[in-house]
Amino acid sequence: MSHTPIVPREKLNFHLDDADIPRHFIKDDPYRSRFFDALSTMFPVGERFFMECVRDYRSQITDPQVLQDIKDFIRQEGQHTMVHNQYNARLKAHGIDVDMILRKHDAWMFGFQRKRLPKSYTLALTAAAEHLTAISAHALFDNRGVFETADPRVRAMYAWHAIEEVEHRAVAYDVMQKTAKVGYFVRCLAMVEAIVTFLVMIAVISNYMLKCDGYSFMQRLKLRAKGFWWVVKPGGFVSPVLGKILSYFKPGFHPDQTGAMPGCNLWMETYERTRNPVLAGDVLHAAGA
Ligand SMILES: [Fe+2]
Ligand SMILES: [Fe+2]
Repeated sequence: MSHTPIVPREKLNFHLDDADIPRHFIKDDPYRSRFFDALSTMFPVGERFFMECVRDYRSQITDPQVLQDIKDFIRQEGQHTMVHNQYNARLKAHGIDVDMILRKHDAWMFGFQRKRLPKSYTLALTAAAEHLTAISAHALFDNRGVFETADPRVRAMYAWHAIEEVEHRAVAYDVMQKTAKVGYFVRCLAMVEAIVTFLVMIAVISNYMLKCDGYSFMQRLKLRAKGFWWVVKPGGFVSPVLGKILSYFKPGFHPDQTGAMPGCNLWMETYERTRNPVLAGDVLHAAGA
């Protein structure tokens, strides 16, 4: 199934409860900081949804390698959720009502999608979201400038999450293709929904967070306009990976065509040697700067 080995790593400590992590973890950039903070609040519900949608098909699979890949995928996502919950506790201390965000996200993903839509479609949504998270990994670490002035602990958390997203990027996709036998149209429709949901949620949640930071309507408008330009401008957040995102719509697409994340081996070598994920994140970042 997946050609990239999936290595579950457990109990990583990023020291996310350190009091000296700045309120905006990217220096002098409230918009970008809250952009990634908004992303962090999407993981607890999102990843539980992904795990359940893949589990739906587990009983129909007999190939031991595929079953092992699913197990490792679930172990990785479980750890991601745990660490993002720790991170989100930081956001609560900023006066952000994270529980409200999670409740609304849960109502959408589980109260509506899981309840009302076919399991094959929710699996297609999972495969699409997994492609987007793996591509976000590329957006962050093919271009290290994004996190140039970020707090090393938060940056390291995203580096670890990014590497594991690349490792397990094909699991949901292969179950969707080989077991659920989802067709091309449904696969693409789910990707359109995943992209729209992602954009709307990031915009709404980051705006709410900036409001909690005390920015007025006009100040937020300015910050968001500047932030929007950073997202879409040539050489910005999205344009270097736009081709990779759109490749999902090619009829013969497979996630393993997306290529390796540069610096991945350096991260793994440093982590295996030191068991220090913050140092591994620093080494990864320095190699690409
Ligand atoms: Fe994840
Ligand atoms: Fe994932």
